[in-house]
Amino acid sequence: MYPLRRNRRLRSSETIRSLVRETIISPNDFLVPLFIVEGKGIKEEIPSMPNYYRYSLDLLASEVKELWAMGLKSVLLFVKVPENLKDNTGKEALNSKGLMQRAIQTVKNAVPEMLVMTDVALDPYSSYGHDGIVKDGKISNDDTNIILAEMSLSHAKAGADFVAPSDMMDGRIFEIRTLLEEEGFHDTGIMSYSAKYASAFYGPFRDALDSAPGFGDKKTYQMDPANREEAIKETLMDVEEGADIVMVKPGLCYLDIVREVRNAVDVPVAVYQVSGEYAMLKAAAEKGWVDHDAVMMEQITAIKRAGAHIIASYFAKDVVRLIS
Ligand code: PBG
Repeated sequence: MYPLRRNRRLRSSETIRSLVRETIISPNDFLVPLFIVEGKGIKEEIPSMPNYYRYSLDLLASEVKELWAMGLKSVLLFVKVPENLKDNTGKEALNSKGLMQRAIQTVKNAVPEMLVMTDVALDPYSSYGHDGIVKDGKISNDDTNIILAEMSLSHAKAGADFVAPSDMMDGRIFEIRTLLEEEGFHDTGIMSYSAKYASAFYGPFRDALDSAPGFGDKKTYQMDPANREEAIKETLMDVEEGADIVMVKPGLCYLDIVREVRNAVDVPVAVYQVSGEYAMLKAAAEKGWVDHDAVMMEQITAIKRAGAHIIASYFAKDVVRLIS
């Protein structure tokens, strides 16, 4: 009771504030998404993601060395697949000499201890820009699962530590886990995009990989942003099917979901602060309308406070530069 309890005593200096601070951001929190292209000597900026780049394999090697030196020890790989290799079967996704497979090896050769996670979904390989195989104008769930499991196996063989299915087909975690076990990849983990919403915040990412859907949208597989209880159902099912890490995506608009998922599961929870979230802050800061670094730290802190153990973020390097 006032004046016995004055909450401002605990806020009166930075020293006391830092002593009682509940949420601390460190380089260990981050998973760094990386975009990879064919070619040599390429580091090209993604127009809708200022200061974020696509790398060819030679420059990927130097980038991951830099990340490691900064204390950023986990990466999430995405590839931009040449147009002529896209089809409706995803066969290029299984190519043991494909861009993803070579990228995994490149990272492991450059920094053997770097934790490598790979995006598992067909959209960058699909002539339709969808995350699954298209049959009669629909995304065929079970046909897609077969290829997602084979794709995961191919990434595991190339040296991936974790595969990260981002497609939202039913039952894919079970299919992937089963095949990895059958083939002896007991230690290859699965980070499932468990509660992935059909979000308008993925726009810049689809520019980065040239992977926008050619017809329709992704609402028959990704979740309706209006739903909360469904996120728990999806997440619990993925844990039952064998997910080692679950994910909520996007970040900021879904922090209520992050907290509920965190309370509902006993596995680590990842949150993906997606491309549109990155682009919005960069654009507002460029105009001088908000303080970039302060807003960035507030957003990252909010994601962790909401319950994230792991944050996939395009701001990872910016944050680490700021806090170190
Ligand atoms: C592909 C995938 C997407 C993202 C991650 N994996 C795009 C999509 O589902 O359309 C989005 C990431 C971002 O926007 O930063 N399945």
